This record gives sequence, structure tokens and C-alpha cells, in this order.
Amino acid sequence: MRILARLCMTADGYVTTPDGWPPQIIDPTHGPGSHGVAEFLRTCEAALMGRTTFEPALAADRWPWPDLRVFVLGSRRPEGTPEHVTVDDDPVRLLERIRAADRGGDVHLIGGPRTIETYRALGVLDRLELVILPYLVGSGMRLTDSFDPATDLEFESSRPLPGGSVEIVYRVPSKH
Ligand SMILES: NC(=O)c1ccc[n+]([C@@H]2O[C@H](COP(=O)([O-])OP(=O)(O)OC[C@H]3O[C@@H](n4cnc5c(N)ncnc54)[C@H](OP(=O)(O)O)[C@@H]3O)[C@@H](O)[C@H]2O)c1
Repeated sequence: MRILARLCMTADGYVTTPDGWPPQIIDPTHGPGSHGVAEFLRTCEAALMGRTTFEPALAADRWPWPDLRVFVLGSRRPEGTPEHVTVDDDPVRLLERIRAADRGGDVHLIGGPRTIETYRALGVLDRLELVILPYLVGSGMRLTDSFDPATDLEFESSRPLPGGSVEIVYRVPSKH
């Protein structure tokens, strides 16, 4: 089981729009499986995210993770959360619950930056994947507002994606 953080970032380095939405929503090519997500998800069996990132999914037209087990780090269970979603306020205990359900596939760590930093600090973040979007937004949340800027990144691969985005994959060497 690998833990793979993957998030979209604007060309000027923001992981949200100025009003706090994931920036890929401004891209007309955005949709299920877009921005290389379909290929990425082939090895994934679980999605992990913070409560802030999870909550908007409850109001979405379609459930965003039909084929994945879903794990949420948060101190409360948002109203309307489906029964099959695991919510825990302790990052280590949540990790144990993910491991207990592990069937050998990868975990998509969706975000946001606070939750990615939480698992980086625990030494269990294997990859950081960035999808750089061809848009500028001028302001918003930066990855390093929460994620440790001293983190070492080792380049692994890059590829162009339809619509002018570029995927960059970094290994995150374990400090332990
Ligand atoms: N660009 C992208 O691809 C992308 C992807 C995902 C998210 N986003 C954006 O990221 C933003 C949210 O990021 P965020 O970093 O503020 O929030 P987040 O990581 O999604 O969620 C933060 C919440 O997770 C829980 N949490 C995180 N670390 C914890 C720890 N060490 N111990 C206990 N609980 C912990 C807490 O929940 P409680 O408050 O319940 O205790 C905390 O308030 C959103 O605006 C979203 O749109 C962007």
C-alpha cells in the first residue's frame, strides 16, 4: 500500500481558487477522470482526505468515489455522510484502519494541504503528484500554507495531459 498525494495547482502556485474551491473546476476539460485521474486511479483502492475537502462531496450531484473505500480525517462526522465512509479524528488510528482494509492497492490522498502535511509528518507519504493547470488565479491557498516547504522531493516522471495541463510526480523520501 502506497500513499499518493495528488492535487491540482494553478500555474501561479495555488491549490484553491480565491474562494476556496479546487482550481480544476475552472478548467472546461474538468470532469470525471479528467486531468489524468482515470489512469492514476487504476492502482488505487482507497481515498483519504481531510474533513474540509470531504464535506462538499456530500452536496455533489454524483458520489465522487464510487470505486474506492473512503477515509476522512476529522473531529466530527458531517451530517449525511454515507455509512460506508470511515471518519476518525486521530491520524494514526485512521491509518491503522486503512491498513486493516488494505488489499494491496494504493491510497489516493486527495488533500487538502493540512491532511497531506499530517501524513507527511508521520513519514508515510510516498508520492506527491502535482497537476499544473494552465490558469492563473492571483490568490488562494498555497500547498505550503500547511505543507512543510523543507520537504525533499525526488523527481520521478512528468507527462503532458489533454487541455494543456502537466502532471509531475515526485517521490517523498522517508526520513525514518
Ligand atoms: N487542488 C486540489 O486538487 C485540491 C485537493 C483537495 C483539496 N483542495 C482544497 O484544499 C482546501 C482544504 O484544505 P485544508 O488543508 O484547509 O483542509 P483539509 O486537509 O481538507 O481538512 C482539514 C481538516 O482535517 C482534519 N485534520 C487535518 N489534519 C489533522 C490532524 N493532524 N489531526 C486531526 N485532524 C486533522 C481537521 O478536521 P476537523 O476540523 O473536523 O477536526 C481539519 O480541520 C479546500 O479549499 C479544497 O478545495 C484542493
